[in-house]
Amino acid sequence: MSASSSDFGPDATSDTSAPIRDSSNSALLAQDAAHLIHPLHDTQAHEIARVWIEGRGALLIDADGREYIDGVAGLWNVLAGHGRRELADTARSQCETLAYASAYTGSSNRPAIQLARRLAELTYPSINRFFFTSGGGEATESSIKMARAYWKLRGRPDKTKVISRIEGYHGVTMAAMSATGLPAYWPLFEPRVPGFIHIPSPYPYRYNSPPGVSPGLAAANELEQAILREGAHTVSMFLAEPVQGAGGVIVPPDDYFPRIRQICDQYDVLLVADEVITGFGRTGVLFALDHWNIEPDIVQFAKAITSGYIPFGGIGINDTIAAALDDDGRAWMHAYTYSGHPVGCAVALRNLRIIEEEALAEQCRAKGELLLDALRDSLADHPHVGDIRGKGLMCAVELVADRATKESFPTADALGIRLQQEAARRGLFSRVKADSFLLAPAAVITKEQLEQAVSILNNSIRALLG
Ligand SMILES: Cc1ncc(COP(=O)(O)O)c(C=O)c1O
Repeated sequence: MSASSSDFGPDATSDTSAPIRDSSNSALLAQDAAHLIHPLHDTQAHEIARVWIEGRGALLIDADGREYIDGVAGLWNVLAGHGRRELADTARSQCETLAYASAYTGSSNRPAIQLARRLAELTYPSINRFFFTSGGGEATESSIKMARAYWKLRGRPDKTKVISRIEGYHGVTMAAMSATGLPAYWPLFEPRVPGFIHIPSPYPYRYNSPPGVSPGLAAANELEQAILREGAHTVSMFLAEPVQGAGGVIVPPDDYFPRIRQICDQYDVLLVADEVITGFGRTGVLFALDHWNIEPDIVQFAKAITSGYIPFGGIGINDTIAAALDDDGRAWMHAYTYSGHPVGCAVALRNLRIIEEEALAEQCRAKGELLLDALRDSLADHPHVGDIRGKGLMCAVELVADRATKESFPTADALGIRLQQEAARRGLFSRVKADSFLLAPAAVITKEQLEQAVSILNNSIRALLG
């Protein structure tokens, strides 16, 4: 049976843009349960869901009027913070001028051209051509198809395999899911796409390197071993997040990516940086491989390019790949209806101006340092805090049963989920990866809000573990 609009309370009759504050969280959740399928749908986990009705800066407000610090800025994307009038105005104005037109070959639009030109200035020097998508998963699909096409155009059609990393997250469309190295995402949807290989992550807290080799080099050398095992003539690309996000904020050692670049060059394997989280400032620089002075061949982006105000993503390719695409004369038969969407491009351009004018990358760097220091001050001595890590405004606290052995708590304890709930009850809404608590708030978060977040996390950990 369908619900009428009046089921949502007195505010929501004909004007669906009216606030629905009078509808309680629990009343809305009953409707939700009847009609919505959620990303990562899980009926039991959803029982204590919040229904968000408003966002302000680094805060979210639920249907009961309660305020929460938005611990991972939506899903790492709301870099410029909630409630930005400039972005709303830009979207409205572009909708009125030209809401949509195809960008398939034979058509273009001004915001798409301007955005591509701006990205050529902002991204890595060798990357000057862009294809736009509606999000990160489509960006992963696009770079895989770009890499395969590149090698075919260059007369090496067998180079099709994709190597990525355990703990890596690249989205959940079929090929992206096959590249994603978090096995929880696979079972209901197998078989995965063939030709996807995973190597271990450069996880400083847990990676054991052989004697005499640094963990960064040893983890990078796993790529070389995988390429040799598979045969270099079969491998098209290596896909990696500069700092792994959903896998638990894994920051690689400084010698990791320079060695990865060498290996990719040596074996003719394209290096694809998945900067869907790290792109546009979150780690303290606009694009994160700049931390290690290397450039990828393809860069993927999404999320913070529009601060989440409009679904948007894309890939940038280097001049060598672009030349192959232009020279051959065959069409690259890959496309999305919403590629180069005028409203998305306009909002992205306006958001990039905010990032520049308000120095959001620098804010992430400075606030990330504050956050890490505060986390270490309050939690480093706790007997169950194993690791506190981060880069820029992208941090995690990993809890362990035993600090000496780094042994994790039994999965059945569901400690991470309980910590997430405890923190939410106290006003910090964030995400966890197993027993790692993730923190990546909006770049506009205030110092007081950061301190409050740390204090809530500290109290929540002590409430659960003493
Ligand atoms: C690094 C990375 N790549 C790709 C994706 C997939 O993006 P989307 O959810 O927009 O498909 C995500 C999403 O969190 C991500 O973190």
